[in-house]
Amino acid sequence: MTSGFQVDPWQLQWNTLDLSALDRTESVFALSNGHIGMRGTLEEGEPTGLAGTYLNGFYEQHALPYAEAGYGYPEDGQTVVNVTDGKIIRLLVQDEPLDMRYGRALDHHRVLDFRTGTLRRDTVWESPTGRRVRVRTERLVSFTQRAVAAIHYEVEPLDGDVQLVVQSDLLANEPIESASRDPRVAATLNAPLVAEDAFAEEYHAVLVHQTRKSGLRVAAAMDHELDTDDGLRCEIQAEDDLARLTAAVDVPKDSRLRVTKYVAYGWSARRSAPALRAQVDAALSGALQTGWKGLLAEQRRFLDDFWATADVEIEGDAELQQAVRFALFHVLQAGARGESRAIPAKGLTGPGYDGHSFWDSETFVLPVLTYTVPEAARDALRWRHSTLDKARERADALGLKGAAFPWRSINGAECSAYWPAGTAAFHVSADVADGVVRYLAATDDTDFERDHGAEILVETARLWCSIGHHDVHGGFRIDGVTGPDEYSAVVDNNVYTNLMAQRNLREAVAVCERQPEVAERLGVTAEQVHAWQEAADKMVVPYDEMLGVHPQSERFTEHARWDFANTPEEHYPLLLHYPYFDLYRKQVVKQADLVMAMYSRGDHFTSEQKVRNVDYYEPITVRDSSLSACVQAVMAAEVGYLELAYDYFAEAALTDLHDLHANVRNGLHIASLAGAWTVAVAGFGGMRDHDRSLAFAPRLPEALTRLAFRLTYRESRFAVEIDQDSASYTLLEGPSLTVRHHGEGVPLVLGTVERRPIPALPAREAPSQPRGRAPHRRTPKVF
Ligand code: BGC
Repeated sequence: MTSGFQVDPWQLQWNTLDLSALDRTESVFALSNGHIGMRGTLEEGEPTGLAGTYLNGFYEQHALPYAEAGYGYPEDGQTVVNVTDGKIIRLLVQDEPLDMRYGRALDHHRVLDFRTGTLRRDTVWESPTGRRVRVRTERLVSFTQRAVAAIHYEVEPLDGDVQLVVQSDLLANEPIESASRDPRVAATLNAPLVAEDAFAEEYHAVLVHQTRKSGLRVAAAMDHELDTDDGLRCEIQAEDDLARLTAAVDVPKDSRLRVTKYVAYGWSARRSAPALRAQVDAALSGALQTGWKGLLAEQRRFLDDFWATADVEIEGDAELQQAVRFALFHVLQAGARGESRAIPAKGLTGPGYDGHSFWDSETFVLPVLTYTVPEAARDALRWRHSTLDKARERADALGLKGAAFPWRSINGAECSAYWPAGTAAFHVSADVADGVVRYLAATDDTDFERDHGAEILVETARLWCSIGHHDVHGGFRIDGVTGPDEYSAVVDNNVYTNLMAQRNLREAVAVCERQPEVAERLGVTAEQVHAWQEAADKMVVPYDEMLGVHPQSERFTEHARWDFANTPEEHYPLLLHYPYFDLYRKQVVKQADLVMAMYSRGDHFTSEQKVRNVDYYEPITVRDSSLSACVQAVMAAEVGYLELAYDYFAEAALTDLHDLHANVRNGLHIASLAGAWTVAVAGFGGMRDHDRSLAFAPRLPEALTRLAFRLTYRESRFAVEIDQDSASYTLLEGPSLTVRHHGEGVPLVLGTVERRPIPALPAREAPSQPRGRAPHRRTPKVF
């Protein structure tokens, strides 16, 4: 399998001009700071696979299409909008437009640099009439100045003097191909922005627009610095959907034209057009004051800090080393400066899933952020908190108490039009609660607990008590819900859901004890707390005594097995080739569900149960979701199938670089990328964080000679280094703490390195997967 990218530990390089791969490279080369997202399109705007600039939280609303609507179905959908494009810089060489579809690309490299946080391009282009120019660009979306992006653009004539005309645009309502198959949604997104204000003067321009239905307002502004040895003719204009700076200049050979473009974005549901314009103008002034070099330096410092706290080093597999850093870089981009906004399933790298956020955020992305950039995890949880009113309304509409967080959303309101895998996937509320619990245990952030966390735990506990009931035997059942596996729906007592709800209920009890004043403010009664405790204690967790395994939900193990032998490989993903009717009634698992429960609630299962369950579910799990491989890897590693875990590690980490799901054009799979970290840390590092403490059980697959990672825990930062025989733990800063290594306590004190041997593992043969669904094996490239 070739991905087209050069293997390098700190960057991702693409060396060809393959126009058919433009759309996928635009996703992997996307830059973002969690607030602004810019796809990695070529500066000249065309050719493009799928142009896109996104602002976190900025969406258009549309009616949800139903053939047969039902009571309680959400009425409105939300779709991320391609906002005003500030990346475009067109170039006229003598009188020919630079367009990579014409003439010849004599050289063309693009590099995403994980340490500088920039996307660089170096192109030597020969025009159809044989004139050559070199264009070098570097762009960034600033981690330090949240509203700002910048592009440094340089043209060098290679064959004597040449006249160049540069046109730098802000372009709104850029024509794009709709990602939606529904014509009504596509229509909404065709020219979604209505012009409100346009202004241009000297090198500076602003456009302000508003969406038609959601009523959100966006302002985009640009300013420029031009550097050339010769005379320059410049003009600027702005009208409804286009602002353009045009600069014409004669550039002698051996000389260059340099343009720095600064772009600022802002959006608001409330601020007026003048206020928003002032906001982006101010952001631009700040960027100009910092200057291009200053922005580069700030970006570098930000990333140096990030890598010092978050890097994962892998020896023995150079491609995986690159993939894991690529993954961490994109996870950081998705979450760094969202600041109380959601982390969408695709980050801000593409329009896939309409820009919605799912359980992916709390369950897959937040564990990474919690232990590397805890403030980003806190901010994402604050977003959930800010949507509590909508979650309460949703619960009320469903006849339930407390808060029901949406299955998919941009602004917090449920947008899923398919209730069996949307509304019924109530586990999302326990996942949000779990994100809070993990964050609190890892940070001891009592302010967050008091102001945000406690309320989330209490409202979700109320939800569970109203969804579930005590049966005649006293057991607490949660019937008619959907677990993580979307090839089963509306089931009774899904083990994952029940165990996550159990933790949610217990943690709500505990937080009310720790924060009695908050409990009082939230109107929590002693009866309520007692009911939560009772429900948790009596939670039903089905077990199949005869098979000695946990059914993922009641009676699951009694269903007919899917006919894997007669399912052709090209019929995956199954959801595109078979009716849900049939998937739902058979034993076939889309993505780790019971296996997920054994990771998230590993404290509930014995080691023997874990082995038996992995052996049972592996042959019926088809991984039609990119969220599965990383979880299967973690559990395979725990039960001792290290080589299988290694294959899944590569699958999770390379999902996007190898386009394994053939849909990278719509954006990256942020949860799977986060999963790459999880496999390193929780899989081969064996980290578990149950019961407010950290435990490790490291073990490496044969190919890896060394794995090292760093974690932030409470006030401390420490490093874990693993080789084939031993692991060492080093406190890098902060107070001493104790972790566990294969069950044994290890005190971490500044100035000492604690090394421990890795206990031998009994050999056991790993189970197989359904026909045609073995992990994407690859030969590690060694450099
Ligand atoms: C998965 C969900 C996931 C969603 C977004 C679906 O295919 O089944 O678990 O939340 O994709 O990534």
